[in-house]
Amino acid sequence: MIAEDSWLDLKGKVAVVTGAVGGMGQKITEELAKQGVNVALVDIQMDRTESYAKEISEKYPVETIAVSCDTANEDNVKSAVQTVVDKFDRVDILINTAAILRSSLFEDLSLADWKKTLDINLTGYFLMSQHFGRVMIKQGKGTLIHISTMLSKFPETYSGAYSVSKAGVNMLSKQMAAEWGQYGIRSNCILPSLVQTPLSKDFYADPEVLKERERVTASKRIGTLDDIANAVLYLASDRSEYTNGGELTVEGGLGIMMGDQIAKPGGRREYALKHK
Ligand SMILES: NC(=O)c1ccc[n+]([C@@H]2O[C@H](COP(=O)([O-])OP(=O)(O)OC[C@H]3O[C@@H](n4cnc5c(N)ncnc54)[C@H](O)[C@@H]3O)[C@@H](O)[C@H]2O)c1
Repeated sequence: MIAEDSWLDLKGKVAVVTGAVGGMGQKITEELAKQGVNVALVDIQMDRTESYAKEISEKYPVETIAVSCDTANEDNVKSAVQTVVDKFDRVDILINTAAILRSSLFEDLSLADWKKTLDINLTGYFLMSQHFGRVMIKQGKGTLIHISTMLSKFPETYSGAYSVSKAGVNMLSKQMAAEWGQYGIRSNCILPSLVQTPLSKDFYADPEVLKERERVTASKRIGTLDDIANAVLYLASDRSEYTNGGELTVEGGLGIMMGDQIAKPGGRREYALKHK
């Protein structure tokens, strides 16, 4: 089924999704296909990418292509551009999701892990954006969407170079927005925080972890893949035409909860009720 007369009006567009068979990549790919968007699925896991591309084109009346590409390798990225342009003739939307997280105490973080994280999470986003962005510059239109994280604003302890790499992504996005707005290109980041994905579902199987994670968000729930995909669809569409260089938080208000972390005798709520 495809969404007819959708408010988003994305039917017939061409999108490239990196990390296309990851938790978020799969959901984003499917939601784009539901809107009638043709999708180039980019990932290093080729078998899974090919079978998922086939699954999507059988389920929805859209064309898909599986592209084997290490986004941190410039030759791979150049040939991905060629493959996509040969197939679809144009690229309207790029969604960067391919990233890794290598946990480590900072004093133990190896140079190899530091470099690998920056290579994939930052240089990979740069290479994909620059090379697909050149196609968009020629077209005079395009939108770049980068999946960043709230942890680009706040260092997550023991996550190695992850927060540093994502802080770089936020500025990379703004740099392109500032230089390429004149060519009809928009570049925006999405900042998720706690999202249930196939990989994180073990965390949420522990009721104590779930309760604590819900407690620290204003909305008192964990994010879903739908929450993220909805933000992607909005930024992909012309409905967000005047949003450029932005950071869209999709995190249930986790980032505004600093005041709530400050302990009061007996509990914050109880204290307020007692002292009103
Ligand atoms: N899952 C969360 O809770 C969460 C929260 C905030 C932000 N994010 C961000 O969302 C994005 C997606 O996260 P996810 O949970 O779907 O991750 P995931 O690990 O499920 O998927 C990542 C995908 O990227 C691919 N990939 C890795 N290195 C690659 C490379 N060099 N070239 C091409 N493909 C490569 C992997 O094969 C995998 O399919 C990431 O950028 C992550 O930082 C995730």
